[in-house]
Amino acid sequence: MDNERTEVHTDLESIFHWDYSVKFPQMDRLYENAKRDQWNVSTAINWDRPIDREVLDMSMMPMFQTELYRSLSDENKVQLMRKFAAWRLSQFLHGEQGALMVCGQLVDAVPDLDAKMNAAAQVFDEARHVEAFRKYITKLDRIYPIDPTLERLLRAVMEHDRWEPKYVGMQVVAEGLAIAAFRFMQRESKDELLREMLEYIMKDESRHVGFGMLALRDAVTKLKGKDKKDLEDFAFTACDMMVTKIVDGQPKDGFLSGAQVFDEVGISASDIEEELKRNPAWKEAEEATERQFNSFLFVDTIIPCLRQIDLINDRTASWYRQLGVMEFASAA
Ligand SMILES: [Fe+2]
Ligand SMILES: [Fe+2]
Repeated sequence: MDNERTEVHTDLESIFHWDYSVKFPQMDRLYENAKRDQWNVSTAINWDRPIDREVLDMSMMPMFQTELYRSLSDENKVQLMRKFAAWRLSQFLHGEQGALMVCGQLVDAVPDLDAKMNAAAQVFDEARHVEAFRKYITKLDRIYPIDPTLERLLRAVMEHDRWEPKYVGMQVVAEGLAIAAFRFMQRESKDELLREMLEYIMKDESRHVGFGMLALRDAVTKLKGKDKKDLEDFAFTACDMMVTKIVDGQPKDGFLSGAQVFDEVGISASDIEEELKRNPAWKEAEEATERQFNSFLFVDTIIPCLRQIDLINDRTASWYRQLGVMEFASAA
């Protein structure tokens, strides 16, 4: 890997499908919807509008209540918010590129033609999302590098030599992450341009989850023994990566690279440590925000999908419970 490119290798098989009859009418309808819902990033959105100076509503963030934040100059407060938004949007952008590539793999590898055509429609959706995020971030600030956890997730999905885990990793876990994160960001931003762009993208994403679930429901019932267990394991590994835990006193997993933006406005790691000592309520508020996000992500989005396709079952449910992402879902 260097700064400009990363290579990923896989033994994925490409499959031709010679029976051209429609096998899944529901898939066919989804493909019709995909064609109907195409939109043009350049013309659907008015890009001449300026981005709000205060792109995120900082008063909604735990950081807002800290001495550290209050000590920043007005200009640095604005810069911190814009850079934080740019970092987060950059992760969306990298995720979209991952989705674009994984869907390209699905076109090749899924055995059914109806699924190939839906995957092909999704390839173009994802290209459009790459286009939109790239355009917005370059207008806002700069593109930040990919977070190591996100890179690990995308690599695991790309490298897999079977197509079922690609559906689980991309269409359920990564798309779920995208939907939860977009919803969260929409709540925190008053910027019209961003809100409108996310609205368009989210419509496409919910169609993608629908496609993934339809394909998986059929595929999972055909998996037996070790293959089924492997898929259950893969689903859990992907979810596990999303959740930050403390191992030997150090945070592990989750998306932690956003901390680099503090440095850019002159806040050092030791400044943060001191503030945390002085103000333990900050840490609690950050943890509460994380719990709320995880609830959006797991309880509302990923867990119900994984249950539906029997990847959360008697064998695996306790893993999720231990990870702490089932609390509100146990009654579902
Ligand atoms: Fe997307
Ligand atoms: Fe998508």
